[in-house]
Amino acid sequence: MAHSVVDMKWLGHPVTSLPTPAFLVDHDKVAKNCNDMLNKCKQLGIKLRAQVKTHKTVEGADLQTGGTRRCIVTSTLHEAEMYANNGFEDILYGYPLIPFHLQRCYDLRSKLQQFHVMVNNCDIVTTLNKTEPPAGKRWSAFIKVDAGNNRAGVCWQNTQAVVDMACQLSDGPHTEFQGLYVHCGNSYSAGNLEQVKTVRDLNVERALHLTQELQQRGITCKNVGIGSTPSCSQEVSTRMSSLTEIHPGNYIFYDSQQESLGSCSMDDIAVRVMTRVVSHFPDRGQILIDCGFAALTKQGYGKISIPGYAHFQDNPNLKLVDMTQELGKVEAVHGKLDYSQYPIGSILYIYPFHSCATAAMYPVYYVHHNNCITEKWYPTRGW
Ligand SMILES: Cc1ncc(COP(=O)(O)O)c(C=O)c1O
Repeated sequence: MAHSVVDMKWLGHPVTSLPTPAFLVDHDKVAKNCNDMLNKCKQLGIKLRAQVKTHKTVEGADLQTGGTRRCIVTSTLHEAEMYANNGFEDILYGYPLIPFHLQRCYDLRSKLQQFHVMVNNCDIVTTLNKTEPPAGKRWSAFIKVDAGNNRAGVCWQNTQAVVDMACQLSDGPHTEFQGLYVHCGNSYSAGNLEQVKTVRDLNVERALHLTQELQQRGITCKNVGIGSTPSCSQEVSTRMSSLTEIHPGNYIFYDSQQESLGSCSMDDIAVRVMTRVVSHFPDRGQILIDCGFAALTKQGYGKISIPGYAHFQDNPNLKLVDMTQELGKVEAVHGKLDYSQYPIGSILYIYPFHSCATAAMYPVYYVHHNNCITEKWYPTRGW
């Protein structure tokens, strides 16, 4: 969120001067991650509709869109409103639409030249066609398709339901059929890089199959896309160029979960939690740090290559074994802790397991260049 008060505090200072815990964003890495994804789309000849929920900031979305401020997908109405108020266009509110949200969607449709909603079932399409849109406009809708993720969306095998919804959207008095949206969240359940590619390819084929089914019935998908960060961070497949867009989001930051799925290297991870050592407990072989679950979340236990919740930068022998709200318990992975290496007040850096969730814990992100603070990003919060 653009901050109205000019707040220069910490700018120009080393990150080590910040109070902890602090959420650090490496600007060069973020810029590289964003450019790489934009280049991948250019290579494929398709659009990048970046998911912005990972960071929820104007600055992050500027980098994701290459400065165009066009073509994004949000996970909340609140994000859509914030981006619309900051000059973004072609915004998809990428969450199953319910009637309760129609008034806010009406306001967004009034404000934007291109605003799309996402529909999950025939009932909401019927509701849209009974709801007068702003003058001279239609409700533009993507159909969310579940291609194996078992979360939101019409099951990809239920061709008839997709056809019925697409027909209603195409023929209805107030609606416009935009196309198909597949999230590809099942790429997170893949065990390795090859499995990620297999899941990705299956999602692409299922999306394209449905597109063809619709085409055979005279219904054109203006847009068809798949996307999660694991599925879009691999080398591209030629079939992906038959899509019109992809919509990953986490890639802006990456995290240790993505590293374990083969989406990135540890060096690509653009965000860290900075924390300080607050106590030593040699009797039980632990140190305490000021990073509890309110600064990291409790995601990831047992899912990374070392025991515990997170990797510590440059300290592979440390493991984060437990957290209360404001404290974390750290032990040695092997052998005994050398307490002289971790004096009280010394700084450690943690790579989050899931950067979207960890970022959501912070009211401000400290953006740095070579560990010197250059910007502060204020994410929007709320729903
Ligand atoms: C609907 C939808 N689209 C796109 C994304 C982006 O996926 P990722 O976070 O893997 O980049 C998400 C993330 O959960 C999502 O829920």
